[in-house]
Amino acid sequence: MPAALHFDKGLANTIAAETSLSFIDGEKGVLEYVGIDIDSLARQSTFEETTFLLWRRRLPTSGELSAFERELHAHAPLPHGMLDLVRLFPRSAPPMHALRTLVSALALFDAEADDSSPAANERKSMRLIARTPGLIAAFDRHRKGKPILEADPSAGLARDFLRMLNGAEPTAAMAQALDVCLILHADHGLNASTFGARVTIATLSDMYSAMATAVGTLKGPLHGGANEGVMQMLEEIGSIDAVDGYMREKLANKDKVMGFGHRVYKAYDPRATYLKTFAEKIARDTGNERLFEMSKRIESIMHEAVAAKGIYPNVDFYSATTYASLGLDLDLFTCIFAMSRMAGWTGHCIEQLDGNRLIRPHAEYTGPHGVAYTTIDRR
Ligand code: COA
Repeated sequence: MPAALHFDKGLANTIAAETSLSFIDGEKGVLEYVGIDIDSLARQSTFEETTFLLWRRRLPTSGELSAFERELHAHAPLPHGMLDLVRLFPRSAPPMHALRTLVSALALFDAEADDSSPAANERKSMRLIARTPGLIAAFDRHRKGKPILEADPSAGLARDFLRMLNGAEPTAAMAQALDVCLILHADHGLNASTFGARVTIATLSDMYSAMATAVGTLKGPLHGGANEGVMQMLEEIGSIDAVDGYMREKLANKDKVMGFGHRVYKAYDPRATYLKTFAEKIARDTGNERLFEMSKRIESIMHEAVAAKGIYPNVDFYSATTYASLGLDLDLFTCIFAMSRMAGWTGHCIEQLDGNRLIRPHAEYTGPHGVAYTTIDRR
């Protein structure tokens, strides 16, 4: 290995990019988007405004926000060819496979797919963010044998997603709950899917290819799939009375409890603070107190058992209760994560292209050398 190189498995100790989108201090439990702490954004911003912030590195004036929302929402209706495609999908397909395929297919219906000028890249980013809710809802309606509903460009993305999915207007509280989750998941430093997107765009491929990479990377259970795991655990436990016994066994077996711990945060995940109060409100509003009470009891048992090791609830823990209270199917949770992270992924790709350099690390070869080629008849 040349002297300048060092081996860093998982790149955990390597800085592989510069970014001005989000900042994380895992020891102190801080997450900021462009310097603004995540809690203030979750309480006061919207997903659309947060997207503007991540892309332009500042908050918009009210005129700028209205213009941005108008332009973004105008991109929401799906090309008809996309709907024909959704209808060809097997109804049993896992939604993340469907979403990855559909994000990639959007390129087939975009004349600007290979135009990599900054203006075209921004328009494509808008299309990707505005259309992802419709793609997820369209596939879910298709698999349930229900008619696919078109996007309404006059509505906010969170509210319109719930309408397209359920076929009924959500309450303002439900739309806000989803909007808060979208803000909280929009960006998170150089996480695996963002890194994947940056690697793809750094080859001067296109935004759709980069987003297909990102969705595929997010799909893994070590990345985007943990909130599904939380919900599976809550379903498995079933009732508040069963929590203590379940947790006793988990802790005795030294099993990992889903929704706790984080590679970066060794303090309370700053995204979980507000989400916890919000999850409680939405759970009560929708008659899902049982889920919230179970979650609270799990948190208190975990606090006594592992807080000293820096293990606290992460964003997935209370987003699971929130999504379940919104009536979202378990297998859509990671798709909703993708819908939100699309804001960060696209922002990172545009940032990568500004002063781009191909991302191409090395691998340490561990195989043999000088092996003679054996012809097939002699093997
Ligand atoms: N439940 C119980 N104990 C946990 C735990 C959890 N979820 N996460 C970590 N710990 C314990 C470990 O057993 C270990 O204890 P030990 O020192 O006695 O052996 C200690 O805390 C350190 O854990 P470690 O696995 O080294 O931390 P990590 O940084 O490698 O792992 C995660 C981080 C996220 C992979 C891990 O916490 C985890 O698997 N969590 C559950 C899945 C999850 O919610 N993922 C979503 C992340 S957003």
